[in-house]
Amino acid sequence: GGLVVAMDGPSGSGKSSVSRGVARALGLRYLDTGAMYRAMTWWMLQQGLDLADPAALAARCGEPAITSGTDPDAPTIHVDGSDVAGPIRSTEVTAAVSAVAAVPEVRARLVAMQREIIGAGDIVVEGRDIGTVVAPDATAKIYLTASAEARAQRRSAELAGTTVEAQQAAMARRDTLDSTRKTDPLSMADGAVELDTTSLTLDEVIDAVLGVVKE
Ligand code: ADP
Ligand code: CDP
Repeated sequence: GGLVVAMDGPSGSGKSSVSRGVARALGLRYLDTGAMYRAMTWWMLQQGLDLADPAALAARCGEPAITSGTDPDAPTIHVDGSDVAGPIRSTEVTAAVSAVAAVPEVRARLVAMQREIIGAGDIVVEGRDIGTVVAPDATAKIYLTASAEARAQRRSAELAGTTVEAQQAAMARRDTLDSTRKTDPLSMADGAVELDTTSLTLDEVIDAVLGVVKE
């Protein structure tokens, strides 16, 4: 018991697929913290809040009940009892999430919820600040990277109706916002192992992570 694997990195580096594969291989739970920021963002848009007004977001971020299911074969995300797995992946939410995630009160609430879910461990947790802030004492910390081109190629292969160029531009904008925000920006944690996945297959990355965890 007690195993915690922290998986951080930019968008499209492979965090979700690798984390789920590792959790499955080791019989661990899986937590997608990005889905929680997306769920908060979906709720704020739904409420008609002005996302350019951080004080308004800070004042309201305690209201929605956000629940995450941690089965790596069937992760779930609900807001006030509604399944929002589909809507949180919309272009609108994706474009807005970094602004919501930059609000310190939003982060404080979600980080507290994440630590509660992590509890005694046996979990793979993916996000942007897991090794640095959420679980600095994790058993293993992984920082996934891949070239901007590879990340955009992967994401546009998943989504209908977008070009690789448009995807790369949207990702670059979000990477900049996520790594330059004042509170807990995306960065590699002390003691993290960096894995460049540009020319690796998914299975090769999962094997490499399993190797790090067994060390
Ligand atoms: P993230 O969670 O970091 O945004 P995902 O795990 O969602 O990344 O990966 C984005 C897409 O790229 C998925 O379709 C996934 O199957 C694919 N992918 C992930 N890692 C690799 C890899 N090493 N090689 C090829 N495709 C990959
Ligand atoms: O879909 P993608 O992998 O690109 O991103 P995600 O993991 O779903 O995260 C969406 C957004 O949530 C990120 O761009 C960050 O702005 C924010 N996020 C964060 O700030 N901290 C985390 N631990 C996870 C996500």
